[in-house]
Amino acid sequence: MGIGISLHPLASAVAREGGVGIISSACLDRLVSRRHGSKVNTYEAVYEEVSLAKSAGGFVGINIMVALVKDYNDSVRGAIDAKADVIISGGGLPLSLPSIKPPNGTALIPIVSSTRALELLCKKWERFGYRPDAVVLEGPLAGGHLGFKFDQIDMESNTLENLLPPVKAVAIKYGDFPVIAAGGIYSHDDIVKFLNMGADGVQMGTRFLVTEESSATAGYKKAVINAKKDDVLVAERPGSPCGLPFRVIKQSPMFISALKRLRAPKCNKGYLLLKDSTGTFSHCLARENNLNCFCICNGLLSAAGYNSDSEEPLYTAGSNAWKVDKVTTVKSLMDELTGVSPLQ
Ligand SMILES: Cc1cc2nc3c(=O)[nH]c(=O)nc-3n(C[C@H](O)[C@H](O)[C@H](O)COP(=O)(O)O)c2cc1C
Repeated sequence: MGIGISLHPLASAVAREGGVGIISSACLDRLVSRRHGSKVNTYEAVYEEVSLAKSAGGFVGINIMVALVKDYNDSVRGAIDAKADVIISGGGLPLSLPSIKPPNGTALIPIVSSTRALELLCKKWERFGYRPDAVVLEGPLAGGHLGFKFDQIDMESNTLENLLPPVKAVAIKYGDFPVIAAGGIYSHDDIVKFLNMGADGVQMGTRFLVTEESSATAGYKKAVINAKKDDVLVAERPGSPCGLPFRVIKQSPMFISALKRLRAPKCNKGYLLLKDSTGTFSHCLARENNLNCFCICNGLLSAAGYNSDSEEPLYTAGSNAWKVDKVTTVKSLMDELTGVSPLQ
């Protein structure tokens, strides 16, 4: 979970409890530089965060979003050099991932939301002689960016339950790699349900957002706890400058300001760049207009406590966030999810 929510404290806690702890690579250079009090680049920041998360043992990986074009290759190299167990990559299709650096022992796991995307990716990766080590199938109830067009989000054919069987069939066709289901999975019973349907694992975000080990600010955790069902919505206009639907808690201060057009167009971060007419990744829509976009990098950085005195926070969470009613620890959450202890 980015930006700055899943850092090494959360990832290593999950790994210690037998899960695969996943760091977010988003804006890590800024976050680690602040920790050091001196500038580190993306490669160094990723290398350090993965190493710290691994030092407590267990399986640790990193999520690297394709949409973060400027830092993508350096993040991949840093993660592989630090011997991350997995790289999970979505927010766009990671078509070039196996070609960036030989992955050695690092498993490469794309995120898809359709059979079409998985077919395309498998064909492309075949040209590099690489088959996905697993795939995350993310349905429409997830937090963060969604891999659907706005009008596809509520379609019955796009529920995670309905997407899983055909995606599993594609995974079998291309070498029977594991399929990890994600998006809206909340309880032990949900996990059992998806495993019984053929999933080989699950990926969960929102439940871990509101743990003691999560690096979200107290204000972020409170916003999730206070959220009611109707408070978690998919932002369209204004939305994310990268054009993908983005789920928000509607009380997020930056979202409210964006709705009222209170914030002047501004982007001084430049992580989420779009292509210009020459095909170069050079511009961010949030720099040009505040009619259609909020400034997602600054909003999410503020939600993680970075520049929070000068920028308003933007909170994202999965559609089941309204069910979360308290901060817990990773240990008790993992005990609940694995069925060791009953519902908290
Ligand atoms: C706060 C938050 C931040 C997230 N950030 C990212 C991200 O940086 N990259 C990504 O691929 N997915 C991101 N996601 C999606 C999660 O990785 C996960 O797939 C999804 O939230 C699962 O659904 P759940 O939250 O209902 O468990 C984020 C989700 C949340 C809640």
